[in-house]
Amino acid sequence: MNDFTYYTPTKYVFGRGVESKAGELSSSIGLKKVLLVYGGGSVVRSGLLDRVKESLTASNVDFLEFGGIQPNPTDDRVYEGIEICRRENVDGMLAVGGGSVIDTAKAIALGVPYEGDFWDFYAGKLKAETALPVGVVLTIPAAGSEGSGNSVITKLDGLHKISLRTESALRPKFALMNPELTFTLPPYQTASGIADMMVHILERYFTNTPDVEITDRVAEGVLKAIIEEAPKVMANPTDYQSRANIMWSGTLAHNGICGTGRAEDWVSHAMEHEISAVYGVTHGAGLAVVVPAWMTFMARNHPFKIAQFGRRVFDVKAADDKLAATEGIEALKAFWGSLGLPVTFAGLGIEAPDIDLLVSKLHENKGEVIGGYYRLNRSDTEIIYRLMM
Ligand code: NZQ
Ligand code: ZN
Repeated sequence: MNDFTYYTPTKYVFGRGVESKAGELSSSIGLKKVLLVYGGGSVVRSGLLDRVKESLTASNVDFLEFGGIQPNPTDDRVYEGIEICRRENVDGMLAVGGGSVIDTAKAIALGVPYEGDFWDFYAGKLKAETALPVGVVLTIPAAGSEGSGNSVITKLDGLHKISLRTESALRPKFALMNPELTFTLPPYQTASGIADMMVHILERYFTNTPDVEITDRVAEGVLKAIIEEAPKVMANPTDYQSRANIMWSGTLAHNGICGTGRAEDWVSHAMEHEISAVYGVTHGAGLAVVVPAWMTFMARNHPFKIAQFGRRVFDVKAADDKLAATEGIEALKAFWGSLGLPVTFAGLGIEAPDIDLLVSKLHENKGEVIGGYYRLNRSDTEIIYRLMM
């Protein structure tokens, strides 16, 4: 096991009705005026936004509304939000929504106290250390941004979708998690979120770091629980207990607990981010296409951990590593297929993907040779993208 520092300062408040604590928690961290960030309208239709506003008012926390954030959020809204916060002396963010809303709130939080262009952090020009406090009311278990130090934003000029990873600067101060808020999710979003959280675990699971039995077993345990709970939420979207289990899995998958003491991979995410940047697909659905292709390449070239996944998560019996890996991949594809997720480009509605463009953007954004579990160059990533056809 590698040495590590694990610091996750987010206060999670979980259960029915917890959104009513938005005002109290904002006030408890000293906020007087927040930017209330939300998406395309689901929180307006469900009445959630009104409840959050009531809670803020009851705790004397002033707010400004900043809605209309779209999935795969873009830098234009971040610049707009930064301007508003500076002009109106906003002292914190309250994100009501999923990854796209939370990541936009985080980017604004980072940009307000910085005199230069907020994109400098995403471009890797400097390290993110200071940001306004961010609170979250989560409406979709998927991206795990409620517990991560990350923010993923697309720069419209050139369609560069970049994940900024910070150790603690961008971890939310609090996350309010009411599973009932997820009852209204469309099945495709529920399923895509499930794929995303599983892949957050897998990106950490596929490692060459030896002697990581504890985190391997934590990862396998959460994966197995997701596989058991997922069909229940798909069959009965208002089943509180399975929604609750899926919601908490999404946080555990990405708040770092599954990655302690080990090198991580993250190539599948990098490859998917190019697809969702160019074609605007739902991130988790994109991963359901990328990951089996990436794993197939690994089954041929470096199968040992893929084989372990097949044996321990899907109870594959094959003694040969390549065979166990292949059977594990088939089981994973069948599982995602059973949730209604695509496993090919065509399934994502992309009939003629521009593979050359995806490969060149990927290596322009991430470097010539990428990956923690297995080092991949341009010809390798081209093979993997072609395996998605
Ligand atoms: O915009 P509204 O109307 O709210 O609708 C949203 C949106 O259309 C809808 N939705 C959310 N909660 C709902 C609901 N509809 C009905 N009922 C509810 N309770 O779901 C749609 C998707 O929302 P979005 O926020 O985009 O989903 P998600 O949480 O999957 O976030 C995806 C974004 O997060 C990034 C992805 O790349 C993508 O840009 N990621 C962020 C990460 C992080 N910050 O740590 C890590 C991830 O790997 C990921 O890359
Ligand atoms: Zn993800």
